[in-house]
Amino acid sequence: LTNEQINEAGHLTIGGVDADELAAKYQTPLAVYDVSKIRDQIRRFKSVFEANGVDYAVSYASKAFAAVAMFQVIDQEQGHIDVVSGGELYTAIQAGFPMARVSFHGNNKSREELTMAVKHHVGVIVLDNFHEIELLDQVLKEQDASSAVMLRITPGISAHTHEYISTGQEDSKFGFDLKTGQADEVLQKVLANSRMNMLGIHAHIGSQIFELNGFQMAAKKLVEIAANWHDQYQYQPEVINVGGGFGIQYTKDDHPLAPEDFVDAIVKTIKQSAADSHLDMPAVWIEPGRSIAGPAGYNLYTIGSRKDVPGLTSYVTVDGGMGDNIRPALYQAEYEAVLVDQPTAVPTETVHIAGKYCESGDILIDQQPLPASKPGDVLAILDTGAYGYSMASNYNRNPRPAVVFVENGESALVIKRETYADLTRLDQHLPESF
Ligand code: LLP
Repeated sequence: LTNEQINEAGHLTIGGVDADELAAKYQTPLAVYDVSKIRDQIRRFKSVFEANGVDYAVSYASKAFAAVAMFQVIDQEQGHIDVVSGGELYTAIQAGFPMARVSFHGNNKSREELTMAVKHHVGVIVLDNFHEIELLDQVLKEQDASSAVMLRITPGISAHTHEYISTGQEDSKFGFDLKTGQADEVLQKVLANSRMNMLGIHAHIGSQIFELNGFQMAAKKLVEIAANWHDQYQYQPEVINVGGGFGIQYTKDDHPLAPEDFVDAIVKTIKQSAADSHLDMPAVWIEPGRSIAGPAGYNLYTIGSRKDVPGLTSYVTVDGGMGDNIRPALYQAEYEAVLVDQPTAVPTETVHIAGKYCESGDILIDQQPLPASKPGDVLAILDTGAYGYSMASNYNRNPRPAVVFVENGESALVIKRETYADLTRLDQHLPESF
């Protein structure tokens, strides 16, 4: 929290609006995004490329948080997006997002999804496996169309030291294997296919990464592949896409580089490696999700019940939980929280912040120092913008929260709160014959 986020009443503000007012106006649990933080992070990424004089795309990984309004903000910032499903693509279409700036990822895109992507002229389809090449070839023939493609390769870089959500190791389910020559085989297939326009090469090594080294190794590897392809097949990728994964600070114990510093190091590595291999400098694309959406997001909850186990521990329970943020239960993810009407007060106790879901594992924060709190107080969990709402569920038939965007002192509802009627909308009564 910065000082500017505390108003005269001593309350937490988000985007210039008192968080207590947001909770009163939109009810809790509530997901709130500070839109200027989203814009700032995209601009910081862009300025890295501009300072290095490199062609680029900042492609927001929309799995972190996809919504019509989010895509509109990314569009206003001239960003690209990556989508991984027909549903994310549909959301982008609804948002009027320019399809030329969409990349379509995924390790099992269906024929329907590929048909949709080709029909809407999605900018680039990232090929992940051999089955998909056949499918896409059929879809392109059916529509008498062509498409730009990229090849996702598995760089064979594993996360030795950290248990991050890793995807680049050799036995990963994603991408074409390098060692066994799959990547070369697929390149030849694509170059020989007149409907596929080979744009570049992609790798994504994982998420919430704190170490620069893995990114630099992946970047070098991608240039090495490009150089090989240039020598062997006289083909040079126009784009090297290094994926996302730039770690962010969730708690005081996290000390990552700033996301843009990761990118600066990656760009410099690619520049140097390309020069060493006498390759033309390719465009560099990145796909940050967490680092754009995460720090911009706050989850607001109302405190309800409390359980004290004397001499042992205390549970302070809020009106949401694993249905709106599964990350603590799923990944032991850690967060920090404040009381919105006294965010800087000195803590007097350390409590578990428990959710309302019927599972012992539904603990949002395991050890949270807090000043004295009472039922009705609003609690803000910080940095919840990535993979919170986007992974939300209706477990226990709880409606998913509303989402609000805030900027320059103004708030706007961008996703309505689900109603009970929404929860049974798809249910069908049992037929009389049963
Ligand atoms: N590009 C590709 C191909 C990806 O698979 C991902 C994330 C990204 C970009 C964006 O990575 P980011 O910048 O957000 O780290 N649900 C997990 C994270 C899963 C990430 C999956 N892929 C979590 O909550 O930590």
